[in-house]
Amino acid sequence: MKTEKLIIFDTTLRDGEQCPGASLNIQEKLEIARQLSLLRVDVIEAGFPAASPGDFESVKQIANEIRGSQVAGLARALEKDIEANARALEKAESPRIHIFLSTSKTHRVHMVQKAKEEIIDMAVKSVRFARKYCDDIEFSPMDATRTEKEFLKDALEAVIDAGATTLNIPDTVGYTIPGEFSELIHYLKGNVSGIEKAVISVHCHNDLGLAVANSLAAVQAGARQVECTINGIGERAGNAAMEEIVMALKTRKDFFGIESGIDTRHIMSCSKLVSSLTGFFVQRNKAVVGKNAFAHESGIHQHGFLKRKDTFEIMNPHDVGVEESELVMGKHSGRNALQHVCKELGYDLTQKELDAVFDEFKILADEKKEIFEDDILTLIQKQRWTQESLNTYSMKKIKSSFETGALPEGSVELVSRDGKSHTATATGDGPVDAVYNAIDKITGLACKLLDYQVMSKTRGKDAQGEVTVRVSHDNREVIGKGAGVNTVEASGFAYINAINKLLIKSKAGPVEAGEMPGP
Ligand code: KIV
Ligand code: ZN
Repeated sequence: MKTEKLIIFDTTLRDGEQCPGASLNIQEKLEIARQLSLLRVDVIEAGFPAASPGDFESVKQIANEIRGSQVAGLARALEKDIEANARALEKAESPRIHIFLSTSKTHRVHMVQKAKEEIIDMAVKSVRFARKYCDDIEFSPMDATRTEKEFLKDALEAVIDAGATTLNIPDTVGYTIPGEFSELIHYLKGNVSGIEKAVISVHCHNDLGLAVANSLAAVQAGARQVECTINGIGERAGNAAMEEIVMALKTRKDFFGIESGIDTRHIMSCSKLVSSLTGFFVQRNKAVVGKNAFAHESGIHQHGFLKRKDTFEIMNPHDVGVEESELVMGKHSGRNALQHVCKELGYDLTQKELDAVFDEFKILADEKKEIFEDDILTLIQKQRWTQESLNTYSMKKIKSSFETGALPEGSVELVSRDGKSHTATATGDGPVDAVYNAIDKITGLACKLLDYQVMSKTRGKDAQGEVTVRVSHDNREVIGKGAGVNTVEASGFAYINAINKLLIKSKAGPVEAGEMPGP
């Protein structure tokens, strides 16, 4: 069976740009139009030429430049609007004039103040007038989903007779529900005489969060054009998001049996461009283009995903222009994912090492919101430094207090190789110095601190700090390293790491508290 084609009519530059705060200048509109053309959008609605000289100019420039996609302009059912469109679209390769007129009772009574007959008369006259300039005319009965069905049918029959080639059914206020909208499309298909001469289109707003669902329900019922915008931007809660419609058709081709001609690999770059030019951020969990759309954090999901991607992924990220899915390392991540990341970083850890890094990782994940690759690298290194220190001293507890005007105090509890616990308290010039003096009291080594550096390893206020110390004793110099979210604690680790190296170098091993190691 031949797969049918769905026409994608993009209105990012018209309805999308209409939303408060999203104004774009001509250059920006041109840039977006080029991206839409790269996406192989069938129709680009470039603007509303009669709305302002700027809108006129941008439709004109887009029409002059874009090839491969049709370019449409919006018009009220007024001759002056249609003429403005005709002028703006003069050089378009394939122009379309899109005329709209309110048909619902609320709009008829309170907005346009016209009777049904007058509405039909205006619609017919405007379509006939537009046909003088262009063969491709779209007509939209605005607020169609709140229009009496019989009147909608009459209006559509009249504009088909007048020469409309696309009949767009707008859910202007995002009022309809999928089942109901599908019934409406079925009704129109079955009752509007001459409807087979035109393409049925839908234009859904997202006031109830149903724009994409309503559009897809309409496609199932026979609509063959969908109007949509990149990232779903548009009036109020926006329009149906193009990327969601296109990917739903692609992913569930088995169900819809309909294809769009969109080159989906450009979806992400187009989404980013629209977001950056309009200043409308894409929510993190937005379908298809949100930062989390291809990110997995839960341990169970990561485990399944690492075994076989389709366990938890229904789309291939490459299909929408995303390089790779992301394993987000956080408190829900499991050992498998951590091992995977360590391998990617070039570390093939033994089971014992992995267990130790995993324990530290879980502690860190409770302290930090986001764990970056550098955090994991730091944990691996920290684990290696701890390994180096295994035969000497390890840090059990650290306490440091500091108050303006008072001498900083530090207490530490170290465990020596023989399992004995040693505690000491000391004061110092600062909290780190106090901790170091307390450590010296236990080890009995009067070390000289030659250098002390602390560097933030990752981003954010909760970043891990890496402390590097250069310590000398008895004409020997060693470097010690420690890391952690708490800089004083990381400083303690670094100092202990250096002392342990000194003790290993001296081959004397740990000494009894307060004694110097032998040569
Ligand atoms: O939402 C709407 O009804 C429109 C029309 C102009 C199609 O944007
Ligand atoms: Zn709209």
